[in-house]
Amino acid sequence: MVTSIHTQIPTVLLIDDERMYRLIVGDYLRDSGYAVLEAESAAEGMRIFENVQPDIVITDLRMPGGNGNQVVTRLQNIAPETPVIIISGTANLEEALGTLREGACDFIPKPVREMDRIKQAIDAAMNKVRLNQESRFIKRALEEEIAQRTCELRELNAQLKHALESTVNALGVIVAQKDPYTAGHNERVARIAMALGHSMGLAQNRIETLRVAGNLHDIGKISVPEEILNKPDRLTPEEYEQVKIHPETGFDILKDIPFNGPVAEIVLQHHERYNGTGYPRGLKRDEALLEARILSVADIYEALTSDRPYRQAIPHDQAMAHIIREAGNQVCPLCACAFVAANKSGALLAIAENASPGQRPDCGAKLP
Ligand SMILES: [Fe+2]
Repeated sequence: MVTSIHTQIPTVLLIDDERMYRLIVGDYLRDSGYAVLEAESAAEGMRIFENVQPDIVITDLRMPGGNGNQVVTRLQNIAPETPVIIISGTANLEEALGTLREGACDFIPKPVREMDRIKQAIDAAMNKVRLNQESRFIKRALEEEIAQRTCELRELNAQLKHALESTVNALGVIVAQKDPYTAGHNERVARIAMALGHSMGLAQNRIETLRVAGNLHDIGKISVPEEILNKPDRLTPEEYEQVKIHPETGFDILKDIPFNGPVAEIVLQHHERYNGTGYPRGLKRDEALLEARILSVADIYEALTSDRPYRQAIPHDQAMAHIIREAGNQVCPLCACAFVAANKSGALLAIAENASPGQRPDCGAKLP
């Protein structure tokens, strides 16, 4: 195929079976500054079009071996942007309107009394093409700009998220260094809470919030003296009161960090109990967030199944029995059901198999 000859001089393909008319119109167009290609039939016109791809097509309607309507229809399929002007002396009004409906941009009746009418039709059609091209160019440029900005924002967002995770992980490391019993416990509580969230069919963003809150739930222990955190015996009531501050301290640390979910509030509520016997606010039933109730039961289970300085872990079955027994008392019944489901699915077993020996006690398990 010959490549397009879209140069500064617009190219007009003139299709008409009347040689005299092609000469008259052709000469007029050349004099007006156009390059002109001529065809004496619709078939020849289409061959030329496919080889040269002119800027505009002018065609007669009724010609031997094919008519102008076929040219209009064909060009609508292969080059809808190319304007087609009909010049015909045989068409009635209905036929003229029909060609416009099929995609022709103008209709000029023969004989053409004012040749300038042809130039006006070409100029109008070319202007429309140019405007369409400019519009498409602007639209494409805008789309590229938006895509670029979206990409940059995504990258920035990922960097911020990474920075945020690194910061909170660093906080977790500080707490873990201060309280070696915390190391591993947080991660296991997070994984158990996520397994419960999956059992409940929670949306992915809420499960992600459970992961973050689980990993940070004891971060407030940074304010508890090390001698209390590391005490091998049961705590005195006074010492226990100091430990009980840690959900509020955790909330204060996290409350201004822009997490995607209510992480700080969950951390604040993770020692609340379903029957209102928890702390710091003694919330009952669904006064506590569902995520906090999930984290609470995950925390209880992890503490029960972990060794402590003053007692050994209890077996999984006994811990499960405890949770089922406490459903409706200390434990949210929904969460207890989710626990049973996660147990049946093997999710809890998978977490337990990954746990290292010498699991850590939870502060809530140091009840005097
Ligand atoms: Fe805690």
